[in-house]
Amino acid sequence: MSTVTTTPGSQLRLGVVGAGRISQVAHLPAATKAERVQLTAICDSSPVVVGKVAERYGVRGFTDMSRFLDQDLDAVLVATPDPSHLALALQAMGAGKHVLVEKPLADTVEAAEELSRRAAELGLKLQVGAMKRHDPGVEYARQVLPRIGAVLTAQVWYRVMSALRPPTEATLFPRTVVDETALGASSDYKQDRQRYLLNTHGAHVFDGLRFLVGELASLRAEVASSGKDFTWHGTGRLATSGGLASFEISASVHGLWAEGFDIYGETGHLRVRSFFPFFRRASEVTVFTERDSVAQSPSFGDTDPYERQLEAFARSVLDDEPTVPDGPDGVAAVRFIEAVRASAAGGGAEVAL
Ligand SMILES: NC(=O)c1ccc[n+]([C@@H]2O[C@H](COP(=O)([O-])OP(=O)(O)OC[C@H]3O[C@@H](n4cnc5c(N)ncnc54)[C@H](O)[C@@H]3O)[C@@H](O)[C@H]2O)c1
Repeated sequence: MSTVTTTPGSQLRLGVVGAGRISQVAHLPAATKAERVQLTAICDSSPVVVGKVAERYGVRGFTDMSRFLDQDLDAVLVATPDPSHLALALQAMGAGKHVLVEKPLADTVEAAEELSRRAAELGLKLQVGAMKRHDPGVEYARQVLPRIGAVLTAQVWYRVMSALRPPTEATLFPRTVVDETALGASSDYKQDRQRYLLNTHGAHVFDGLRFLVGELASLRAEVASSGKDFTWHGTGRLATSGGLASFEISASVHGLWAEGFDIYGETGHLRVRSFFPFFRRASEVTVFTERDSVAQSPSFGDTDPYERQLEAFARSVLDDEPTVPDGPDGVAAVRFIEAVRASAAGGGAEVAL
């Protein structure tokens, strides 16, 4: 967390396009405390939203993207509905800005590929907003993964709480500015609930699975529903070890938030338990190694994944570090989502990745 303003050039001058829910509850508060990040301007197509939110943060607000991009910005965080990521990120990159694009990188594989390709052509940084990569527990789990050896079996699950969610959010969130008329237009893509739920949650789960368990050569998945709730279950063969991974996404469950990994390798076990992200708690991680019968569970300090995501983005631009996750990771997550959808539509048919 930063406490002082440092010299010009050492700060990432950040503009945020899309000042809706996730920006108000996560990105904007994170931008005010992230090291080496200077929140500089906000853009939103709703004049109501941008007026009130920009005033709250003491920065200039715009409804016009071109005027917003004319400001002294090094980078733009795109936090608008998924179908608009392609056009807005391309426009920002066309104006020479590095981009951090909310997950999923785009709503189709082709659009995600175009963004990833364009960033590489222009020599600009593209980071995907899969912020769980910046959960220090998940980072630690990836670091100690080699201790458990080649993976035989892995399970990942992600169950979104139902009725408990609104009161939990009301407890955690600041008061948000909502423009109902603008939201109507920008939430059309949520009308196909089954598609939307798999896209929005799959973007986290499949990025995490690739990060901790590795690439799958192929997968099979099925979907079931009950009222407004859906569950996807799938399995896949690990490309490197030949082991098996299984995954579950359920949105929503009538119980507590549940998210985790259990990964068993030839020499040990890695256990990861994650929390509702807006608690901003690090995942609890235990790594067990059979050789010495030792189980280790570290504690962590700064644990806000949204803040740490912005700090990593600032380092990538200012110090030329790799982005995490990068454009190809964003493409792979969308391809994974599409493979699950195709397999489930085919009654569990095998789909190559
Ligand atoms: N990482 C996370 O934890 C997380 C959580 C929630 C949402 N998200 C992602 O963040 C993105 C935004 O989600 P949200 O829940 O904040 O949506 P939202 O609908 O609450 O807010 C979107 C905002 O974008 C504005 N907008 C829409 N089109 C625009 C355009 N063309 N130009 C400028 N502004 C425009 C709308 O007026 C609205 O204020 C989505 O991609 C979603 O998947 C990520």
